[in-house]
Amino acid sequence: MTAQILDGNALAQELRASFKTRVAALTAQGHTPGLAVILVGEDPASQVYVRNKVNACAAVGMYSEKIVYPADVDQATVLAKIAELNADPKVHGILVQLPLPAHFDEKAVLEAIAAAKDVDGFHAENVGALAQGNPRFIPCTPYGVMKMFEKGNIDLTGKEAVVIGRSNIVGKPMALLLLNAGATVTVCHSKTRDLKFHTCRADIVVAAVGKPRFVTADMLKPGAVVIDVGINRLPDGKLCGDVDFEACKAVAAQITPVPGGVGPMTITMLLANTIEAAERNAQREAKR
Ligand code: GUN
Repeated sequence: MTAQILDGNALAQELRASFKTRVAALTAQGHTPGLAVILVGEDPASQVYVRNKVNACAAVGMYSEKIVYPADVDQATVLAKIAELNADPKVHGILVQLPLPAHFDEKAVLEAIAAAKDVDGFHAENVGALAQGNPRFIPCTPYGVMKMFEKGNIDLTGKEAVVIGRSNIVGKPMALLLLNAGATVTVCHSKTRDLKFHTCRADIVVAAVGKPRFVTADMLKPGAVVIDVGINRLPDGKLCGDVDFEACKAVAAQITPVPGGVGPMTITMLLANTIEAAERNAQREAKR
């Protein structure tokens, strides 16, 4: 068996084409969707992500601004900027690129973002809404994974799903989304005693570990759906996921590649969340 490849590039393109229409409609009403991205420090990977986010906004006709601080900036300066952006009518979404330098209280920074502009879905209010099954903003990477399930006609009801990784950015919200969709969900992590015991039973495996080729073919049930959230840089400079793609595609029924799988969906769903925020704002203003 060779797995069907779940193509994130194609789906991202299709969705972004539909966003242009929504952005044009909002612009015609004087509500061009706007995203502000704050980057602290010079981490090269974060610089690339932020540049890609800003470019993606421009490509669908959205407004964006990038605010860059040196790594030693004090937290109060960043909090003051967030307060300013919270009040700025041009800005519908605010994103602080993570990780922040060690002297920051990440939670305090994320909570300072107005919940209605929290397009990352990291604010406690939005995490709570997702946990209750009434999401307002869904974190972009797991949201992108859910869109890939939808596109691949993958029914999640009653399925055994194993999420490897328990981060606030991917693992935890992914588990909640799968649970809300009717899957039986197991969350595995670095302290899990027998990972293979869990993955071998899974109809769906989502790997968000951050270790190259961590998931091997012997860990999978034949016919499983394998979603690779990892983006790891190998010593030769090539990108590789958390899944041993070449070996696993012979066992899985459907699998995402790296690059070209989940990666392009993350920014796509950031655009979706920002457009959604702008549409909600336009509706609120129309009622006034
Ligand atoms: N760093 C890695 N992934 C993300 C993300 O989805 N959002 C933010 N803000 N920072 C990140």
